[in-house]
Amino acid sequence: MRVLLGVTGGIAAYKVAIVLRRLVEDGHSVRVVPTRSSLHFVGRSTWEALSGGPATSDAFSNVYGVEHVRLGQSADLVLVAPATGDFLAQIANGEARELLGNAILATHAPIVVAPAMHTEMWLNPATQANVATLRARGVHVIEPAVGRLTGPDSGPGRLPEPEEIVAAAYAVAAGEGLPLSAGTSAPWGDLVGVSVAISAGGTREPLDPVRFLGNRSTGHQGLALAQAAADRGAIVTLVAANVTLPSGQGIARIDVETSEDLAREIRAVAASADVVIMAAAVADFRPAHLSPTKIKRHEGTVTIELVPNEDILAGLVASRPGGQTIVGFAAETGDDAGSVAEHGAAKAKRKGADLLAVNAVGGGRGFGDVPNAVTLIDVEGAVVARATGSKLAVAHVILDEVVAHRARH
Ligand code: CTP
Repeated sequence: MRVLLGVTGGIAAYKVAIVLRRLVEDGHSVRVVPTRSSLHFVGRSTWEALSGGPATSDAFSNVYGVEHVRLGQSADLVLVAPATGDFLAQIANGEARELLGNAILATHAPIVVAPAMHTEMWLNPATQANVATLRARGVHVIEPAVGRLTGPDSGPGRLPEPEEIVAAAYAVAAGEGLPLSAGTSAPWGDLVGVSVAISAGGTREPLDPVRFLGNRSTGHQGLALAQAAADRGAIVTLVAANVTLPSGQGIARIDVETSEDLAREIRAVAASADVVIMAAAVADFRPAHLSPTKIKRHEGTVTIELVPNEDILAGLVASRPGGQTIVGFAAETGDDAGSVAEHGAAKAKRKGADLLAVNAVGGGRGFGDVPNAVTLIDVEGAVVARATGSKLAVAHVILDEVVAHRARH
C-alpha cells in the first residue's frame, strides 16, 4: 500500500526511522513528509535514504505537480508519528500548514496518529479536547505509552514502540481499527510506595560442570512487569534467573541460576513485599546427582535421574504475610487431558495464587521479544481479564488487576 508517513517535531522522531524501515521491508511504498521542526531531531537525508524517495516539508516545492493535494489523495494510509501537541491542535482545527497539514486536509485515507509529548502536555485539557475532536472525526489516535520520558520523569506520553505503531497501522489499514492494547492508557502512580517482588527468566539445573537442563524463557515478560511496576511508582526487586537482558533504571536486581537459588532469594524478598509476581519459568525437576566432572560421550548411553523441585509459588502462597497479593504464571500447551484454559483453571485452584496469567506457548508463541496474549484468572479459575499486545502492554493489564485486587483486600 502507499503510506504517507508524517513526522512532527518531537525527540521520539528517531524511533520512527525503525517504523519506516519496517514498512519498507514489508513492501509498502512510503512517502515521508517531515515538518520543518522535526528536522531538528532527524534530518531529511535519513528519511530519503530509508524511504528511497524525496522527503519534502514545504508545500511550495513541487507546485506544478499539485503535490500538496496529490499526496493526500493518493495515500492508502496516513500515519503521523510522533505527533506533537501542537500538531494535534493544528489538525483538530483543520489547519493546512506546510506540506503535511495540506496532505492531511486533502486525504480520504484512514489516519493514524501516535502522539508523544511530556505528560503535562498530554494531560492538558486542550490536548485532550483536541484528541477527542480527532477521534470523533474518525482519526485513530494511539494512546501514548507510559514510561520514561526525556529526562528523569515517567508518565504517559512516550511514543509506543515501533512494532506497536506498525501493528496499529496495519490493523487500521485492514479495517480492524486500533488493536485494544494500543488504545489503553495505563494509569500511572497507582503503585507508589508499593513493594513488588518479581521473578523472571528460566532456571538452569546443572548436570555437570559444563551442562545444564534449562528452558526457553528469556525473561522479557518478567522484565516488562518490572519496568511497568517501576513506571507506576512501585519499589521493584527483580530476581532474574539467567536473564541476559538489562533491566531498567530504578529496579533492584538479584541474579540467580538454579531453582534452589531462586527459591531462596524470592522467599527473602517476598517476606516484606506487598505484591509477588512469579513470572520465572522454574524447572520442575533437577538431576538427582551433579557430576563433579564432565560426563564423557564415550561412556555411552547416559540415564539421568530427575527429582522434583519444590513448588516455589505454592510455598509463597502458604507462608504469605497478610495483605500480600500473589500472581503466578502458567505456560500451557494444551494436551489430551485438557485445553489451555482447562489446565489453567486447574492450576489456579492448585497453586492458590490470587491471579494466574495463563499463556499458550509452543509453536513459536510466548518466548522472547514477541507479542504476548494472556488470560488472567482468579483463584477459582474465573476469567478476570484478557490481554494481548507487547509484553509491556500485557504487563500493565496484569498490574491493573493487581491494583484492583489490592483495593478489594
Ligand atoms: N513455579 C514455581 N515452582 C516450580 C514450578 C513453577 O514456583 N517448581 C511457578 C511458576 O513461576 C509459575 C507457576 O508456578 O508462576 C506455574 O508454572 P508452570 O510451570 O506452568 O506450572 P507447574 O507447577 O510446573 O505445573 P505443570 O507441570 O503441571 O504444568
